[in-house]
Amino acid sequence: MQELIKIEGGHRLNGEVTVSGAKNATVALIPAAILANGPVTIVGIPQIADVDNLCQILRLLNVEVTVVGPDHLIIDPTHMTNTDLVAGCVTKLRASYYFMGSLLGKYGHVRMRMPGGCYLGPRPIDLHIKGFEALGAKVRFEKGCYDITADRLVGNKIFLDIASVGATINIMMAAVYAQGRTTIENAAKEPEIIDVATLLNKMGARVRGAGTNVITIDGVNALSGCFHEIIPDRIEAGTFVVIGAACADHLKIRNVIPQHLESLLSKLEEMGVRMEIGVDTIDVYGTENLKGVDIVTKPYPGFATDLQQPLTVLMTQAQGESHVRDTLYPERFKHCQELEKMGAVIEVSGGEAEIKGPTPLGGAEVQASDLRCGAAMVVAGLIANDVTTISNVYHIDRGYSELDLKLKNLGAKIWREMGE
Ligand code: EPU
Repeated sequence: MQELIKIEGGHRLNGEVTVSGAKNATVALIPAAILANGPVTIVGIPQIADVDNLCQILRLLNVEVTVVGPDHLIIDPTHMTNTDLVAGCVTKLRASYYFMGSLLGKYGHVRMRMPGGCYLGPRPIDLHIKGFEALGAKVRFEKGCYDITADRLVGNKIFLDIASVGATINIMMAAVYAQGRTTIENAAKEPEIIDVATLLNKMGARVRGAGTNVITIDGVNALSGCFHEIIPDRIEAGTFVVIGAACADHLKIRNVIPQHLESLLSKLEEMGVRMEIGVDTIDVYGTENLKGVDIVTKPYPGFATDLQQPLTVLMTQAQGESHVRDTLYPERFKHCQELEKMGAVIEVSGGEAEIKGPTPLGGAEVQASDLRCGAAMVVAGLIANDVTTISNVYHIDRGYSELDLKLKNLGAKIWREMGE
């Protein structure tokens, strides 16, 4: 038995939705907080399973975690101990690997199990390891565990062969206490990296250049507690913009930084979607006669791989052919198989999908094979005739804060049931 999401499609949505704090910033900010020597208060925490698992890891490390209200966390590492991270919660998400950087940075040693997370094809962490080694650490992998040790960490110049989000953040965290200057070249430029650098700097670190492709970190001796508010989730915001375009009369999306969504918004404009972009809001109007478009996913500020899956659903409603090429994860196309069950006409080969539209979608039994595939299934369910049943919804709960409630408030018919 498992929990299923059911959606009765075909109802027009209307109203306002407020975007939560960014998942991919939060999952790095929580491990980063343990670098401080006093309490760190973070607000805007999304209600997602990844946060619950990270808090469980904090408790294993004897870090005091206080939940204040729905979106407010106080992380106090004053009495923390550097325990081996071998419990099940470590393998439930990918971002547990950020404890590699933060524990190595703070204690010069970390032992932890291989992280988990969505399967999007192979997801190596060789660049993280290369970065730790460049700072002076010795890395061993045996019996499913990483053992990373350094007598002392010394700043170095590190060139990333790929502008990896995870490697950039992990190296930044490992380097904050290192002796001298660390330079990360070809660093990733995602807004979540700036958010982590901002937290570290509030704690007293000296990180410069976050948001550009060269980041420098000058090591410091101590970091203190601070207060931090998480940036809005650009992927959740983008998902709601797609939902608005697909099936709303008028949707107002609040707590957005539209600049973070430029690549999506310009594609939607090309498709013919009507939007009004405010300072921190986006108004979107359901649009008929959409035109097919082509997208190629790239590191930020290119088109986000995390949004190609929800956008594919809108492409099934657009006139003509659309193409999606995912250069980051060429196997991230499981949603296409599921959409075909609902009547979509899609051909996937060689890291690319060709979508022929418009095709009406009909309710079916589909699965959320990863987080953003789950989001795509929700969008599809909202526009399909009849009832769509989504299984493996724990993937959706890992990354979307109160999705059912937010959609219900907009007029969607969505509910949960236990089933096979
Ligand atoms: N890569 C390597 N070696 C490494 C690290 C990455 O070859 O050591 C490759 C990856 O295989 C991939 C590319 O580099 O082809 C980019 O990977 P990156 O490291 O940037 O991704 P990540 O840090 O593992 C984060 C997000 C993902 C998002 C990607 C790309 C978090 C926790 N996850 O993953 O988010 O898709 O960046 O933007 O921040 C999601 O939210 O659904 C999600 C999967």
